[in-house]
Amino acid sequence: MKWTSLNELREKYLSFFESKGHLRLPSFSLVPMNDKSLLLINSGMAPMKKFFTGEVEPPRHRVTTCQKCIRTPDLERVGHTARHGTFFEMLGNFSFGDYFKKEAIPWAWEFLTSPEWLDIPPEKLWPSVYVDDEEAFDLWHNVIGIPAERITKLGKEDNFWEHGTGPCGPCSEIYFDRGEKYGCGKPGCRPGCDCDRFMEIWNNVFSQFNNMGDGTYTELKQKNIDTGMGLERLACVMQNVDNMFEVDTIRRVLDKVCEISGKTYGENKDNDISIRVVTDHVRSAMFMISDGVIPSNEGRGYVLRRIIRRACRHGKLLGINHAFLVDVVNVAIAESEGAYPELRERGDYIRKVLSMEEERFDATIDAGLNILSNLIRGAVKEHADVISGEEVFKLYDTYGFPIDLTREIAEESHL
Ligand code: SER
Repeated sequence: MKWTSLNELREKYLSFFESKGHLRLPSFSLVPMNDKSLLLINSGMAPMKKFFTGEVEPPRHRVTTCQKCIRTPDLERVGHTARHGTFFEMLGNFSFGDYFKKEAIPWAWEFLTSPEWLDIPPEKLWPSVYVDDEEAFDLWHNVIGIPAERITKLGKEDNFWEHGTGPCGPCSEIYFDRGEKYGCGKPGCRPGCDCDRFMEIWNNVFSQFNNMGDGTYTELKQKNIDTGMGLERLACVMQNVDNMFEVDTIRRVLDKVCEISGKTYGENKDNDISIRVVTDHVRSAMFMISDGVIPSNEGRGYVLRRIIRRACRHGKLLGINHAFLVDVVNVAIAESEGAYPELRERGDYIRKVLSMEEERFDATIDAGLNILSNLIRGAVKEHADVISGEEVFKLYDTYGFPIDLTREIAEESHL
């Protein structure tokens, strides 16, 4: 297995599935179309739900994509761990009532292990199956030849994929063994364990049910395949790095943040948090703006606003005291515009929206931060564990200081 750049990996995956008769489609927009259940697209299958249910005829019954995705439930954790991020790309191959398990599993294996493709040593890969799925177990064991003890059976929590309502089903994941040094050392450590040793890289969903949203499931008219592989995670494996911030294209954005701030990554824990926040958030904001999201006070516009504001604040924590988001986004655009030409086409617009929001925030942040620091100092001195709602409201009402930022900063001082 040979070091491969993130951009090359994306291309390899898409061309592999083209060679298996799939139609390559460009990523759908991050903004969902006709789907009120989602604020932002969060997986490869999400924009294609109607192809899975059979309500809309797909352009071909085999499709492959690399989908831009945003997940924000862990927004506050981004930066604090190297694992969390808000933006990622999901590689996927999809069958809409066409092939099923007996093709999907061998193709996944071929792509990962064949010397012509990724050439990952088979002993590093550990499949898991849904506990009742004998068919998938049989394919891994008898067709691929994985010893039974290396196939983990997991329950609904791990191996049944669903996100809200819509198409869903049991799944078979593929984990990469990063080695004992990442492990917890417990005797039962294997895929599904909480520790960092086994990293899930690929999820094959056998999408055959429809979650009706009222606790019931109906059988879909057709059996489908929905697979998802995190491109950044795959790049971690192929580049032998710990986390996505070390992956080539993302690292170059991170290096720019270091250059602007004069900080070295890996030297100071707090600086590292801020460096990761800026790196992740600028990339997310770039893709959201290019897909037409505008900073605002509600819905996805507010997600974007929060992300940009967090980036600004962490820039300040790094000691950057001038506008800098445009310099960072220029690197992010250069890294991804080959795969997403819209970034180049809308580059000026992206820069404009970012710098306007940065300027607007800058005007409010300094006064607010000063007042908040005094409040926090006072509270800590008095051994209090809260700052008063009245003060928080005043910060928002009089100084325009956003409440979520107040909450986040207060939490950093355990308030
Ligand atoms: N929908 C599944 C996931 O997001 C597989 O694509 O993991």
